[in-house]
Amino acid sequence: MINVAHTIVLTNQKGGVGKTTTSASLAAGLARKGRKVLAVDMDPQGNLGFSLGADIDEGPTVYDALEGKVTVYDAIKRIKDIDIIRSNILLSGAEAAFRGERREILLKNLLDPVARMYDYVIIDTPPAFNVLTLNGYSAADYLIIPMATEILSLMGLVQLKETYETIKQSVNPNLEIMGIVLTKYEKRRNLSHDVQEMVETVAKQLGTRVFGSVIRNGVAAAEAPAHGENIFEYSPRSNPARDYGAFVDEVLQIVEGGRKHG
Ligand SMILES: Nc1ncnc2c1ncn2[C@@H]1O[C@H](COP(=O)(O)OP(=O)(O)OP(=O)(O)O)[C@@H](O)[C@H]1O
Ligand SMILES: [Mg+2]
Repeated sequence: MINVAHTIVLTNQKGGVGKTTTSASLAAGLARKGRKVLAVDMDPQGNLGFSLGADIDEGPTVYDALEGKVTVYDAIKRIKDIDIIRSNILLSGAEAAFRGERREILLKNLLDPVARMYDYVIIDTPPAFNVLTLNGYSAADYLIIPMATEILSLMGLVQLKETYETIKQSVNPNLEIMGIVLTKYEKRRNLSHDVQEMVETVAKQLGTRVFGSVIRNGVAAAEAPAHGENIFEYSPRSNPARDYGAFVDEVLQIVEGGRKHG
């Protein structure tokens, strides 16, 4: 059977909820488990590439590839055991530059030829519903929604649901919401009854699950990117590293089930 990558998009239009931290940790965690991973940054902030140790102001970016200035192969940069397609601030010009009916499937078309080279494609998105996010949804098999425990909120999720349904009914009928992952969780407090109830309500509305793994707060998660290291390299014994390890196992279980890899 021909292998085609499972494509996972990290999404939440709220800023600072852990999309990029989760993207980088998921990509690194899957690579550690022997999976071939491509990480794609669709956020003009360029944080994913930076977090994974790439120089984001040097060399071709996802924007160059989406515009057709370079091939997808030229845009892929190998850093350690992860292939990366970087982004930088120039990607913010996409809204104006991408025109026409097919503007939402540019990323899908770009990645199609390389999907067989990978087990997983992990895509980070900006904190907005714009053409970049829509391109992520169109290219994805699964959405994962990180939510920061301290700013848990139902706001904006109606829009996420509508966007999800629109994409599912048009360009991407296979799109699934894999789950909500709670991030930046303060370990001294138990997941309060209120938070638990709220996140379960949100998950129900979106027709999905809450991941059993909760990502605790830990300074290592914030420090690692500046060192160009993922959390498993930077501080393997830290709470976020342990929690992301469990989260990666959970994703593998959901996507691959009992199937043996290889
Ligand atoms: N588990 C954690 N413990 C401590 N700090 C964390 C944790 N997860 C993320 N952070 C920090 O919180 C901030 C926001 O995280 P991150 O950049 O991953 O969010 P984001 O959703 O991608 O943000 P944006 O919407 O701006 O793209 C960062 O400074 C990050 O280092
Ligand atoms: Mg981010």
